[in-house]
Amino acid sequence: MLARMNSRIQRWLESKPQRYALALAVTAFFLVLRGVLDPVIGSYVPYLAVLPAIVFSAWFCGLGPSILSMLLAFLGEQYWFIPPFHTLRISGTPDRAGAIVYFLVSLTIIIFAETTRRITAKLATTTDKLRETGEELGRSHAELEQRVSERTSQLQQTNVELRTQTDVVRQLSSRLLQMQDEERRRIARELHDSVGQIVAALGMNLSAVQRESDHLSPDAAADVAESANLVSELSRQIRTISHLLHPPLLDEVGLVSALQHYVEGFAERSKIQVSLDLPTDLGRLPPEMETAIFRIVQECLTNVHRHSGSTSAAVRIAKTANQLRLEVQDAGKGIPSEKQSEIACHGKTGVGMSGMRERLRQFGGQLEVTSVPGQTVVAATLPVRQAQGKSAISA
Ligand SMILES: Nc1ncnc2c1ncn2[C@@H]1O[C@H](COP(=O)(O)OP(=O)(O)O)[C@@H](O)[C@H]1O
Ligand SMILES: [Mg+2]
Repeated sequence: MLARMNSRIQRWLESKPQRYALALAVTAFFLVLRGVLDPVIGSYVPYLAVLPAIVFSAWFCGLGPSILSMLLAFLGEQYWFIPPFHTLRISGTPDRAGAIVYFLVSLTIIIFAETTRRITAKLATTTDKLRETGEELGRSHAELEQRVSERTSQLQQTNVELRTQTDVVRQLSSRLLQMQDEERRRIARELHDSVGQIVAALGMNLSAVQRESDHLSPDAAADVAESANLVSELSRQIRTISHLLHPPLLDEVGLVSALQHYVEGFAERSKIQVSLDLPTDLGRLPPEMETAIFRIVQECLTNVHRHSGSTSAAVRIAKTANQLRLEVQDAGKGIPSEKQSEIACHGKTGVGMSGMRERLRQFGGQLEVTSVPGQTVVAATLPVRQAQGKSAISA
C-alpha cells in the first residue's frame, strides 16, 4: 500500500519544477505549523518542527529541492521563531551550535535519502535488466524448443521416407534377382532345347555324311571329320553354358546333386581341387532357397578362381534343426583389408558380395566374411524350417 503510494508520488514527481514546488509547499506548511505551535514549543527545541519538511523533501523531491527546503526552513526559523525575531542574525554560541546541528542533521538526512534513492534506482535498473534478460532467455528457450521439435519431426519424416525407400530398393533388388534367375532358367532351357537340338541334328547329319566318306575326296572327308568334331565340341559347350546358367538337376533332383555336378565341372574347368561336404539328410529345401544356396556357392567358387589364386577350396554345408550354415573356404592370398572393410560395412563392394547378401536377406539369413593371407572363409547362415521330404520335389 505504502509502496504503491510512494511509487505514485514518484511518478508525479518525475518533473523537476513539480519537485521544487512540492518542496517549497511542504517547507512553507511546516513553517506555518511551527508558527501555530509556537506558543507551545517556543524556541526550546529550535528547528525540530521544520525537520519533517526536510525529511519529506529529501525522500520525495530529490537533492536540489531538499537543499532548498533545508535553507528556506533555516531562514524561516531564524527569521520568525528564533530571537532576535525578524532578523537573520545569529546571536550567541547556543544558537550557532543549534544552527550547525540543524545543518548536520539535515545534510545527513539528505545524503542518506539521496544515497538510498540512487541505490534503489540502480537496483531497479538491475532488476529490469535481469527481468529483460530472463524474458529474452525464456523466449530463446521457447524458440529453441520449437526448432528442436520442428527438426525432430522433419527427421522423423525423413526417416520414414528413407525406410520406405529402403524397402522399395530391397523389394526391387530381390525382384531383380528373382527375374535374373527366371531369365537364366529360360535362356538355359532355350539353349538346351532349341539350339542344342539343332546342333544335335547337325551332328547326326554329319555322322551320316561321314559314313559315306568313301565317296568323298580325302580333303572333303577330313573336313567332314573336323566339322563333326567341332559340332560335338559345340554341343558340349552349349550344354555346359546351359548348365551353368541354370543347372537342370537343381529343379529335378535337388541341391545336393546339383552341387555335386557343378563342383565336379568347376574343378575340371578351373583345375582347382574342391572338396564338398554335405549332410546326408539335407533333403529338399524350398526351391528359392535351393537356388539361393546354389548361386552363393557358384559366386564363392568363381571368386576363389578369379581372385584368390588358391589351388584348393572346400564347400561345407551343415544343418541343425532350424539353421543351415554354408561355408566356402580357400587357401588363397586373402581379401585386401580395404576391400574387407568395404564388405563389412556393406559399402560399394563388387556385385557378387552384395548379391549374396541380398539373396540371404530374403530368408532372414546373413553373410560373414573372414579373411587373412592364406585363408578366406565366406560363411552364410540362414534359418530353415524342419527338413522337407522328397515329396516336396514336385511342389
Ligand atoms: N576368395 C577370395 N580371395 C581373395 N579375394 C577375394 C575373394 N573373394 C572376393 N575377393 C575380393 O573381394 C572383392 C569383392 O568380391 P565380389 O563382390 O564377388 O566382386 P567381383 O568378384 O565382381 O570383383 C573382389 O573384387 C576381390 O578383390
Ligand atoms: Mg565375384
